[in-house]
Amino acid sequence: MAVTKLAVLGNPIAHSLSPVIHEAFARQAGLDIRYEKVLVPQGRFAETVQNLIDKGLLGFNITLPFKYDAFRFADEHSVAAQRSQAVNTISLVGGQIYGDNTDGRGLVRDLVINLGWPIENQKVLVLGAGGAVSAVIWDLLQGSPDRVDLHNRTLSKAIALADRQRDPRVKAVDRDHLDKGYDLIINGTSAGLSAETPDVPESIVAENTRCYDMMYATTQTTFNAWGLTNGAAAVSDGTGMLVEQAALSFELWFSVKAGTAGIIATLRSE
Ligand code: ATR
Repeated sequence: MAVTKLAVLGNPIAHSLSPVIHEAFARQAGLDIRYEKVLVPQGRFAETVQNLIDKGLLGFNITLPFKYDAFRFADEHSVAAQRSQAVNTISLVGGQIYGDNTDGRGLVRDLVINLGWPIENQKVLVLGAGGAVSAVIWDLLQGSPDRVDLHNRTLSKAIALADRQRDPRVKAVDRDHLDKGYDLIINGTSAGLSAETPDVPESIVAENTRCYDMMYATTQTTFNAWGLTNGAAAVSDGTGMLVEQAALSFELWFSVKAGTAGIIATLRSE
């Protein structure tokens, strides 16, 4: 069987778990892959990826800060990629460069399938209005929430992101107008990287509230610890989202289902 060569591109890249995750999928599916991490110099995304394509690589994951460069590099785009103007997965199909963004569907799969947390008819609050949130908001709306309030430290960015959705269910909400007791709160800020929690009132959490942090960590994330302290019913970090967005890339490349439960459990236990 021929080996399929794939890579994840980013800067920095050393920390990436993508090779471990994709190798686990490949073992399960009986496929032979070589999946490498590539550190792309700033400003050299297109030439780096073209070089790798010339060497026979057939698929790429793209991480920070190149998701917008990857969007521009692709010839064709999925709807999710178009909506976020960002690409995290490239697949070479008949010489065409196809760009997808699997982050949003990865989040939704983790919420609905793995955790059993519904989105349908739910009152959802999303914290943050940067690239991470912009990549998932459209897919969240496909899950038929009752509404999605967007709150960001810099309100103007939440307003701009909400306006771009052109959907009456999405509203930017400032701190004073946050509702009480959301069903689901998704933290899409990078505050946790500096062990901070977004400055939001405790009243957004009630006893039925589920808190999801798109960040992942080996210990409880700062945001989830805050949620539990304030009485949340359940919390989850983004390990499942990380694995599910990878599974969707794998499924795009190979047209076979990637089993995710085993690798999610492994990452959680490490
Ligand atoms: P990413 O690609 O991770 O989304 P980003 O586009 O830089 O990165 O966005 C970071 C998000 O986290 C922003 O919404 C940012 O809020 P601002 O727009 O006000 O900068 C949010 N963020 C970062 N640190 C934060 C903190 N300490 N408290 C609240 N929000 C924070």
